[in-house]
Amino acid sequence: MLDLARLKDGDIVLDVATGSGEPGLSAARRVGKGKVIGLDISQGMVGIAREKARAMRLKNYEAQVYSSEFPFGPDTFDAVISRFGVMFFPDVLAGLREMARVLKPGGILCVAVWGPQNEKAKSVIQVLNRTFGLPEAAPNGPGPFRCSDAGKTASLMRRAGLHDVGQAEVAVHRAHSSVGQYWEYLLDTNLVIAEAFNKASAETRKEAKVKVNKILGSIEEESGKVVFDSIALVSHGVK
Ligand SMILES: C[S@@+](CC[C@H](N)C(=O)[O-])C[C@H]1O[C@@H](n2cnc3c(N)ncnc32)[C@H](O)[C@@H]1O
Repeated sequence: MLDLARLKDGDIVLDVATGSGEPGLSAARRVGKGKVIGLDISQGMVGIAREKARAMRLKNYEAQVYSSEFPFGPDTFDAVISRFGVMFFPDVLAGLREMARVLKPGGILCVAVWGPQNEKAKSVIQVLNRTFGLPEAAPNGPGPFRCSDAGKTASLMRRAGLHDVGQAEVAVHRAHSSVGQYWEYLLDTNLVIAEAFNKASAETRKEAKVKVNKILGSIEEESGKVVFDSIALVSHGVK
C-alpha cells in the first residue's frame, strides 16, 4: 500500500479507519519530515494507536476520533490510505468521495479490502453464528467481505471521481502457532463473537469449541500450526 500510494519524504497523509495504527504508523516512518493523521470512529482504537506511536517514538503520527465528515478542508492531503476499513462504512461510495474531497489534485487514494473469504475461516464464523444464535451478516451490509468482489472497490473509486484506477492482489498468510492461539486471536479481534462467547453458558461455549476445533483440525499442520491463506485487494487511483 505504501508503495502504491507513492509516499515520499515530506508528504502529508491521511489514514482512514486507522484502528490500532496501521498502515499510518508505517507511513509515518516513510514520510520523515511529513505527517500522518490517523482517523477512526472508535475512541478505544485511537487510544491504542496513540500509545503505539508514543512507544515507537513517532512524533509525526497523530490519531483523531471523528463521527461523520472528515474534519479537514478540500485538497489537504498528498495521499489518503485506508486498510480493511471502508467495508464497515454505512455507505462505501460516500466514504470514498469524502476521501477524494480531502485529497490534493494529483494525490493518490489507496484502499485495501479483503478478497473472497477463506472457506475454512467462513465455516468457523458460520458455525459460531449458529451456535450463539447470531444473525448472518447481510451480503451488502457493513462487514469484512462486503467489498470482496474483484473490481468492486476500483469501480466505486472511479465513481468517486478518481482516474488511473488500478488494483493489486496481495497474498495474506496468517499462521497461528496452535488451535489455542487461534482462539485467542479470534476473541481479541472479533468483538461480536467475543461478546456472545463471554455471555454464553459453559455448555454452549463447550459446543462452540468442539465444532470449531473440528474445522481447525482439518487444516492443522503436523507442527500444530493453524494456517489461513487469504487475498487482500488493494485499489489505487489519482485525483
Ligand atoms: C479491521 S479494523 C482495521 C484497522 C487498521 N486499519 C488495520 O488494518 O489494522 C477496522 C477499523 O475501522 C473502523 N471503522 C469502522 N467504521 C468506520 C467508519 N465509518 N469510519 C472510520 N473508521 C471506521 C473501526 O473502528 C476499526 O478500527
